[in-house]
Amino acid sequence: MSDTVHEPAGPPVIGNMSRFTDDPLRVLTGLQEAYGGQYPLVRLDPPVGQRFTVVLDPELVHEILAQREQFRRPAVGPEAQQRQGLVSSDGMLWEQQRSVLQPEFVGGNLSTYADIASETVTEMLADWPEDGTLDLHEELSVLTMRVITQSLFSRDTGREQATAVHNALATFSEEFEPSLTDVVLPERLQPGPSEEFEAADEVLEGVAEEFVDWHRDHPDPPTDMITALMDAQADPEIELSENELIDEAVLFMTGGQETTALTITYAFYWLSQHPNIRERVAEEAQTVLGGDPPTWGDLSELTLTERVVRETLRLTPAVWNLSREARTDTELAGASIDAGEFLLMSPYAHHRDSRVWSDPLQFRPDRWAGEASRSNDSYFPFGSGPRVCIGKQIALTEAQFTLAHVLQEFDVSVDRKQLDLQPSVTLRPSRPVEATVRTRG
Ligand code: HEM
Repeated sequence: MSDTVHEPAGPPVIGNMSRFTDDPLRVLTGLQEAYGGQYPLVRLDPPVGQRFTVVLDPELVHEILAQREQFRRPAVGPEAQQRQGLVSSDGMLWEQQRSVLQPEFVGGNLSTYADIASETVTEMLADWPEDGTLDLHEELSVLTMRVITQSLFSRDTGREQATAVHNALATFSEEFEPSLTDVVLPERLQPGPSEEFEAADEVLEGVAEEFVDWHRDHPDPPTDMITALMDAQADPEIELSENELIDEAVLFMTGGQETTALTITYAFYWLSQHPNIRERVAEEAQTVLGGDPPTWGDLSELTLTERVVRETLRLTPAVWNLSREARTDTELAGASIDAGEFLLMSPYAHHRDSRVWSDPLQFRPDRWAGEASRSNDSYFPFGSGPRVCIGKQIALTEAQFTLAHVLQEFDVSVDRKQLDLQPSVTLRPSRPVEATVRTRG
């Protein structure tokens, strides 16, 4: 054992990986708490199968994420394993894709997307009962799906298609819960995708194909992400096949929709646990919006709402774990890392480190009032470095808008005390999140 890598003992044969796959959130937070500040790295090394090293030092996390050439992002999630897109691509292909897509996520486009989010929330609320219950996670999945497809693909999915995608993603999640077989069996011996998975994947592909075909058939298609990709296809310098174009649409649809829906769902959960803060958010919304839907210009004034979103992403980051694979043998913090070794960096565990956060398990949005806390290395819900989340601003705006807009008009109370989280590709609730909604008198 070196000074920088700790290797905790585990049961024979399967080693400590069984504990990890049984309850990864508990193991990662436990390692962070027990060894963080003491060791930068902890190695979980099963006698057979994949070797994992957990990165406990927050500065080292950012160092690794900055070096995209040395540490590649392994294919994560069943759809990413099968599909080529920005999330899953590498090297030159990634560089080309990122430079084609980046302009869609800056400048005036962001305020256009904000208008779309605002209008779509207004439509969602028009269908809510004056006093009743609903499946909040599903409701917000439909919302975020409609926002993402209107923003990036200029097409509205409508409720039925959006619900089908929500259900397909639930199937993916079940397929992708961390399991011991994934860790110890060589890839060729691992079970292939289930029939349910294949069917769910077809749903997503069908939706994406429809959007691409619509653009192809349109005499003068709107300027959006799909036309940017179609223009790139025409560029001889860029390699982008028709399948890759569809893959990209699938990956954006799933990556962008699910993470944002979960974040807003969790924000409502946390606010339900803290009704006094929920009332303060509602008051802020009424003061800033004055009864109107939010606009881009309102964003900077919704300060408490912004802190609620930040704090939600601290305690319940939709992306609970980032991983990288060493491309070649290398060194980290003085320790040898083998080519092919996996490095795990968990926002969930770092966001709860008691050495960094006071009362780490408490939901306290006001902790974000101090400017100093905003540049905290132990907070990375969107990753960092060159592969930082491209949709970060869209997600933050949509979350802030939805909370303010909804709470201005409705009282929303999540009816359960515990979330029961299931860490899969994303951090999902293991059962539907029901909420009681009531119009404000
Ligand atoms: C609250 C919502 C969201 C969270 C928590 C989130 C989180 C993340 C994280 C942590 C990464 C980096 C993963 C890594 O380095 O391994 C990432 C990457 C990415 N995200 Fe998001 N994301 C969110 C919303 C969105 C939205 C709305 C979109 C699309 C519109 C999006 C599209 C992407 C893409 C394409 C990447 C890959 C970027 C690249 O590799 O260049 N995300 N996201």
